[in-house]
Amino acid sequence: MDRIRIVGGRRLNGTIPISGAKNATLPLMIASLLTDETLILDNVPRLADVGLLEQILGNHGVDIMVSGKRAGETADHGQTLHISAASIVDTTAPYELVSKMRASFWVLAPLLARMGTARVSLPGGCAIGTRPVDLLIMAMQQLGAEVDIDGGYVVARAPHGLRGGGIVFPKVTVGGTHTAIMAASLARGTTVIDNAAREPEIADVAECLNKMGARIAGAGTSRIVIEGVIKLHGARHAVLPDRIETGTYAMAVAMAGGDIVLQNARPELLQAAIDVLGQAAVSVTPTNQGIRVARNGGSLAPVEVTTAPFPEFPTDLQAQLMALMTRAHGTSHIVETVFENRFMHVQELARLGARIQLDGERATIEGVAQLKGAPVMATDLRASVSLIIAGLAAEGETIVNRVYHLDRGFERLEDKLGRCGAAIERLSG
Ligand code: EPU
Repeated sequence: MDRIRIVGGRRLNGTIPISGAKNATLPLMIASLLTDETLILDNVPRLADVGLLEQILGNHGVDIMVSGKRAGETADHGQTLHISAASIVDTTAPYELVSKMRASFWVLAPLLARMGTARVSLPGGCAIGTRPVDLLIMAMQQLGAEVDIDGGYVVARAPHGLRGGGIVFPKVTVGGTHTAIMAASLARGTTVIDNAAREPEIADVAECLNKMGARIAGAGTSRIVIEGVIKLHGARHAVLPDRIETGTYAMAVAMAGGDIVLQNARPELLQAAIDVLGQAAVSVTPTNQGIRVARNGGSLAPVEVTTAPFPEFPTDLQAQLMALMTRAHGTSHIVETVFENRFMHVQELARLGARIQLDGERATIEGVAQLKGAPVMATDLRASVSLIIAGLAAEGETIVNRVYHLDRGFERLEDKLGRCGAAIERLSG
């Protein structure tokens, strides 16, 4: 298994290109199941999760062609996928595939809406919490589906098609909102979703669905209204930039010191994180290329942060912020309210000399003068990258094991950081 070796203490200077968002790409690819025409997606990141979803969609009969590189194109340009679900040959998503990536459970909605039936394995828990799917099932039932659980599978049927309805989510759920929108797009009549997730990826997917002929209004707000249509058609859509990758590199620069332009980044996608970096005495300024992040000399100030659904501070940046605060001048508090168990990085950060105390959902981080490199590993994507951030500032060598977690969500991370001066390399095998 690959590992990443970092020697801490180098400043970061230069430009880091921001890739297309993983968490928009996955539902966009899944939305291709809603039409028998071709969906073309541009700016798709080269990630292990994208490859895995290609495999999962392939199992349903979806053909995916990746465009060759055009003249002048580099690895910094995302790839273009031509996705065709002209015929769906299988409406079952098996355990072996769904258990590898939770978001693949979302195929339930388009399969049900288009084919009138779907059988999708329950995804099970994962390293960041139990992550149930009860709200996704509730949404399908509100649209008229009959749903049974049989042998670890969710079996959903709507032999006469789905019909519009009212969906009120008792808790904000990104996956619930994506699946409700997809299913409602092909339902008969109007659907109103209340307490919808407002994440920018929801609006991006809805924009693509509207290009495909859907009639969705209000995506990006907490009330979304969808008028169902009989058929969707092909379209072309470019994936929006990854706000979590943006925030991660912003925190990496804040940690290592230096001056970086995050190319293609859009500040409005992560204003809460930008505000927190400002409170930590990191300079963040929008430019016409993206976002410039700099810290030259001054110490980091501690912060008080609570994660919550968009537009609040994202849970997907919690681990990275915690790594940063291990070097703040004073004591920080971070409260995690989205997932109940998303603190696996704490023990590993402690191996590097961090001083963090956990009390339920609240972490107290006492800044230390220096971290010291060590071998570490983490069990999820964002936790792994928090260890990279810590390693950038730790004295000596840090080896991050289980790099496959990073490859799920960060495109060429060691290359992007290495080009800005980090001493970072991938060790194979
Ligand atoms: N929840 C339920 N019942 C449900 C669904 C969710 O109780 O039926 C709970 C969850 O357990 C959690 C909360 O609701 O406590 C929010 O979960 P949500 O459904 O919003 O999460 P998700 O859709 O499974 C997406 C991202 C995650 C990100 C969360 C929160 C994708 C592919 N995944 O997950 O991203 O953390 O939203 O913003 O979009 C990551 O990229 O590393 C990642 C984990």
